[in-house]
Amino acid sequence: MYLTEKEEKMLNGEEGYAVRKSMEILVALGDIYGAEQLIKVGSVQVAGVSYHNLGDAGLEFLNELAKDGKVKVLTTLNPAGMDLENWKNLGIDEDFAEKQNLVIDAFRKMGIIISCTCTPYLIGNLPIYGEHVAWSESSAVTFANSVIGAKTNREGGPSALAAAFVGKTPCYGLHLDENRVPDIHVQVTASLKKLSDWGALGYSIGKKAENKIPYITGIKDAELDELKSFCASVVTYGSKPLFYMQGITPGFENHQPPKEKITIEDKDIKEAYGKINDEITDIDFVCIGCPHCSIKEIAEIAELLKNRKISPNTEFWVACSRMVKQLADTRGYTEIIEGAGGKFACDTCMAVAPLKGRFRAVATTSAKGCYYSRQNNMMTKMGSLEECIEAAVSGKWS
Ligand code: F3S
Repeated sequence: MYLTEKEEKMLNGEEGYAVRKSMEILVALGDIYGAEQLIKVGSVQVAGVSYHNLGDAGLEFLNELAKDGKVKVLTTLNPAGMDLENWKNLGIDEDFAEKQNLVIDAFRKMGIIISCTCTPYLIGNLPIYGEHVAWSESSAVTFANSVIGAKTNREGGPSALAAAFVGKTPCYGLHLDENRVPDIHVQVTASLKKLSDWGALGYSIGKKAENKIPYITGIKDAELDELKSFCASVVTYGSKPLFYMQGITPGFENHQPPKEKITIEDKDIKEAYGKINDEITDIDFVCIGCPHCSIKEIAEIAELLKNRKISPNTEFWVACSRMVKQLADTRGYTEIIEGAGGKFACDTCMAVAPLKGRFRAVATTSAKGCYYSRQNNMMTKMGSLEECIEAAVSGKWS
């Protein structure tokens, strides 16, 4: 990979340890993937924040970089393993909290914004059309590429951090237009009535598209919450972190429909629910907010919980960014949700919090949430927000 004189100096350590280490990572990646050069990025989103996933080795790596590393571009964080303020209320133990706080301290020292969310685009890390960025979280990467029309590969935690310290990333993969051409036409005839149907749609397309780039027609309109749910699901269950959706993706009209064509019908959506849902009725955990809740979703939750109480046998979490929670505070939603016995899980989520062994069965609106809950040994139910709230109130899925 070609390096400018300045980049050579960075690689030789003239800007310190963190930049040298970062350049080594970026050059190695560039060589593996055949990149010709580094390109500037407008922002970075770093995954690998939960101590649950990092462990002591990851913490040590971060502390080394934090000694002299300062990010050069706007950099935000993916969810951590706990609510950074309210962790005790979520049942997180002291030892874990201590380590998680050390992880956050390291990121803070690097100049990273302690946002801890997988929806950076809801809190100001919002790229512009065509901008190159280096993001890690798969749902956010898919949203950036497909809804905003920015350009990013699905970075690993270390490569995203490296891009933040250098302000650049190797130009390969989805940074190149030739790799952003749709290669499977997906005609959607299924009717999508509730938020979780978008998760089911993502499951169906992800499975059928098998690492191809879908060119999706037949969808009349889509709201932001539906798109963020779809982005999370389609990439979790199979396709590349990029799709073209008629009426949504900027530049859709610049592409021809690919020859290979599949159709997604009502029966496919039903089948997806069948695969995602287990045969269970008792629910001891309900989590809404995968990807992290928007303020609109929180308003809907508050409306459904007015004058109601969460079952004593069920834990109810609303996962969101701290910034969105602050909006919920001022608009009175927090009072209603907490008054009903619900808990806010800011800065964290159902996949990266240490939940293994704590709950038996989860209900959620999210197909991706079900995927990761199964990895945490939970049985899963995906349904509408109304169905999830009923489960939280009664402790049963009906
Ligand atoms: Fe976000 Fe966690 Fe879901 S990172 S997309 S809430 S698994």
